[in-house]
Amino acid sequence: MTADKPDPPLLERAAAAILKAGRVVALTGAGISVESGIPPFRGKGGLWETIDPMEYAHIDAFQRDPAKVWRVLIKDMKEVLDRADPNEAHRALAWMEKQNLLQAVITQNVDGLHQCAGSTDVIEFHGNFAWQRCIKCKARTATAAVDLCRLPPRCRCGGILRPECIFFGELIPPQCLRRAEQLSAHCDVMLVIGTSASVYPAASMPFIANQNGATVIEINPERTALSGKVSDFLIAGHAGPVMKALVKTIVERL
Ligand code: APR
Repeated sequence: MTADKPDPPLLERAAAAILKAGRVVALTGAGISVESGIPPFRGKGGLWETIDPMEYAHIDAFQRDPAKVWRVLIKDMKEVLDRADPNEAHRALAWMEKQNLLQAVITQNVDGLHQCAGSTDVIEFHGNFAWQRCIKCKARTATAAVDLCRLPPRCRCGGILRPECIFFGELIPPQCLRRAEQLSAHCDVMLVIGTSASVYPAASMPFIANQNGATVIEINPERTALSGKVSDFLIAGHAGPVMKALVKTIVERL
């Protein structure tokens, strides 16, 4: 099977599991937004191939030299995310939620594309890039309104702005972690879409689902650390065409 022609028997298996399940949850990563024009972090074309995350995406790096992190990482991210629209995979998950076939999306992405596509229950594990917060007075500013002429951008109070995203070395907001763990422990099916499952604690969600008896289904063009161990099966392919085909298979069975 190619990346754009997912295996029909596996699609049938996934559709049957979803339709039989009481609770379905999706865990998504950078791969789901690749077809929206946002590069992933790891693997071919990944952001961490060209820049060292410890030098640019760690909270210590930001505190040491915020202008450098803004110049090399955050400014580029803003330009890429400004141009991105949801793709077929984001829309498929939003459709599933509307049909009561999906309880919630746990995403590691900060691009807001699930909500743009219409998903309403989205746990943003690593925050959201749409907002900046002043490190001094904590006031919030929409990223779209930030003036990039002088870096780092500053709040009216003079404090430096930082994205409302989690840098390496920072804690996941406890309420997000708790809810994600609960959803993972109580779901019957977990769809794991476009994540290398290499960053914890997000990567522990499929383990929690598996340990509690859920069927874990991966959608990814590549095998991951979960494949053949924690996931029941992998539908090899790009998120957009696979999710489109999965929706079609579900509709045929409804
Ligand atoms: N469709 C589906 N999956 C894809 C596609 C695609 N079109 N293209 C690539 N992938 C897969 C890759 O094979 C890989 O397994 O998406 C995955 C992307 O992995 P990562 O780049 O590691 O992204 P992610 O798992 O979300 O990273 C987790 O790491 O640096 C941090 O904070 C960052 O939230 C991020 C976290």
